[in-house]
Amino acid sequence: MFKYLAAASLVFLIGATAAEFVVLEQRNDPPAGFSSVGPAPADQILSLRLALTQSDIVGLQDTVYEISTPGNPRYGQYLTEDEVKQFVAPSADTASLVNGWLASNELTAAPASPAGDWISVNMTVSQANDLLAAEFLTFRNDGTNQTVVRTLSYSVPRALKTGIEWVHPTIIFPEARNGGFPSFINKTSSGTTGGRSVTPASVSPECRATSSWSPVCLQELYGIPSAPAKPVKNKFWVSGFDNDFANKRDLQAFLETFRPDMNPNTTFDFVSVDGGINNQLPAGGGIEANPDMQYAVGLTNGIPVTFISTGTLPNDRLTEMLDQANHLLSLEHPPNTVLNTQTPGLESQLSPQMAVSLCNAYAQLAARGVSYIVQTNLWGAGSVPLPGCKPFDAPFPASCPFVTAVGATQFDDDQTEETASESSGGGFSNFFRRPKYQDTAVAAYLRATNNTHTTAFNVSGRAVPDVSAVWFVPWIFDLGVVDFLSAVGYSATIFASTVALLTNERIAAGKPGLGFLNPLIYANPGAFNDMKTGSNPGCAGAAIGFNSTSGWDPVTGFGSPSYPKLHEICSKL
Ligand SMILES: *[C@@H]1O[C@H](CO)[C@@H](O)[C@H](O)[C@H]1NC(C)=O
Ligand SMILES: *[C@@H]1O[C@H](CO)[C@@H](O)[C@H](O)[C@H]1NC(C)=O
Ligand SMILES: *[C@@H]1O[C@H](CO)[C@@H](O)[C@H](O)[C@H]1NC(C)=O
Ligand SMILES: *[C@@H]1O[C@H](CO)[C@@H](O)[C@H](O)[C@H]1NC(C)=O
Ligand SMILES: *[C@@H]1O[C@H](CO)[C@@H](O)[C@H](O)[C@H]1NC(C)=O
Ligand SMILES: *[C@@H]1O[C@H](CO)[C@@H](O)[C@H](O)[C@H]1NC(C)=O
Ligand SMILES: *[C@@H]1O[C@H](CO)[C@@H](O)[C@H](O)[C@H]1NC(C)=O
Repeated sequence: MFKYLAAASLVFLIGATAAEFVVLEQRNDPPAGFSSVGPAPADQILSLRLALTQSDIVGLQDTVYEISTPGNPRYGQYLTEDEVKQFVAPSADTASLVNGWLASNELTAAPASPAGDWISVNMTVSQANDLLAAEFLTFRNDGTNQTVVRTLSYSVPRALKTGIEWVHPTIIFPEARNGGFPSFINKTSSGTTGGRSVTPASVSPECRATSSWSPVCLQELYGIPSAPAKPVKNKFWVSGFDNDFANKRDLQAFLETFRPDMNPNTTFDFVSVDGGINNQLPAGGGIEANPDMQYAVGLTNGIPVTFISTGTLPNDRLTEMLDQANHLLSLEHPPNTVLNTQTPGLESQLSPQMAVSLCNAYAQLAARGVSYIVQTNLWGAGSVPLPGCKPFDAPFPASCPFVTAVGATQFDDDQTEETASESSGGGFSNFFRRPKYQDTAVAAYLRATNNTHTTAFNVSGRAVPDVSAVWFVPWIFDLGVVDFLSAVGYSATIFASTVALLTNERIAAGKPGLGFLNPLIYANPGAFNDMKTGSNPGCAGAAIGFNSTSGWDPVTGFGSPSYPKLHEICSKL
């Protein structure tokens, strides 16, 4: 079969002229902030990824909804690696045509995903220019002076147009911004919102004294249990990217300070993707991974936690995330809960193809029964506190319908009511249609706000966040220094830890884990503490943003978790 098709495609390809190529993707100019400095060196090696057309991604997505919707006869019947592959592997024809085309150009591909829907090929710039009828150029980022090799257009032979979805990196540029995004707000007493000395009446005096949400205070606030979880096969993985490390001695100091009832030697395992490391230098702990790990371990007494660190690929954060997803998909028993608080991008900065590919990988993880939990962002209604602010820009990967997106809450100055945080990212996707599980909740929100601003954002898009949690936490760095930070990532960590504990209860009862959570969440709004006040105005001013309302809203979703209510719902499933 392979030989026959390869031979057939060779006949076609050997006679190929430029006229038989069709453009797959193109752009007129590089994005603002980049300028061409001339042709890329002909012998420079490019490592290209090709996304091959998946056989039946819609069938996979339909299956995900069936096995994730409580009440469906297939609820909890997660797929094996092979079952997922049958949906996403390219057809035999596609694989043969592509391999034949590469072979006729003296190139060989290696699989870059378990199903072979991604392949990677190394080639020189001059080979790539011929293979893809492209013109790879060197572009300089005017802000940082870093250079990057990209093309403004590329093509494939007509016979391959339906088999190759896109090739990366080609026309997608890394973020042009100088220095990247702030990923946190430092809210010490001299910080952005002033001191916080009291907490709600329902929380004990010890928690009131600080008003920052240490594990013990979170247990009180959301009813999260403190007793050790039963030892069962349950895995909770915390992600690190781009040299964001989790320090073991900081974790130990954290447990000694904030979880004196736990063994301070409780630690975590380590998994590396793309050469990722976990630097244990005294000051090496990252501002996301370090507190994420402290809360993941500090809230889930007894559940094994693993740090999965993905190495840095040049200028290519989304490929790092794709590699992480493909690593998880290659495991016979993937983790039950995965937390990814990587500072997200906004859709306007990304290519829809890349976002869709990554979201399809998250759909595969959902099919395998993984609860994949991400943060929204720190910029309110989709805007960045930097030049070029664009209101109503949805955060990605939160906007993927197959992940659970967590926004942020805080306590008002009188400290009696949990409200939306003004920085909580939320909004409506331009890339992904609204999934059915959101229809009722989002339609109710749009009605309640009389469709204000609906010409400015995409009412038919997937809306985020799904849920939320407080975001102001104490953490420990430099082997013992207590500090206080706010970031939406910590909200996601708190929520993911809650999910890991609920999952543990299910597994201990002999049931499958919770898998993809959103159909369950949207069927049980009453399990969340509803935020009714607050807003996320973003950069464009108070009137341009979303308001927290009764029920679901694009600031806090359904609100923060009530563990006792979620426990009751999950134990009946
Ligand atoms: C491409 O080159 C890199 C670096 O030398 C290597 O690690 C990788 O395995 C190569 N990939 C393929 C598909 O040959
Ligand atoms: C980039 O290069 C220019 C010219 O060499 C120099 O003036 C500028 O300071 C450099 N910028 C950075 C961020 O290194
Ligand atoms: C937060 O602010 C305090 C006081 O200004 C400072 O000591 C601390 O280093 C800051 N933390 C981080 C992570 O920047
Ligand atoms: C933690 O580890 C240290 C060093 O191995 C050991 O001395 C100590 O007893 C351990 N603590 C607990 C509570 O197990
Ligand atoms: C709105 O979202 C849909 C997908 O839900 C998309 O097809 C459409 O292009 C989006 N509109 C804009 C203006 O981006
Ligand atoms: C929506 O319209 C109704 C009827 O005009 C009005 O009573 C209500 O206050 C409006 N709600 C908002 C949020 O503007
Ligand atoms: C949010 O509330 C403010 C103040 O009441 C209002 O101006 C704004 O239009 C509201 N935004 C939306 C999206 O409803």
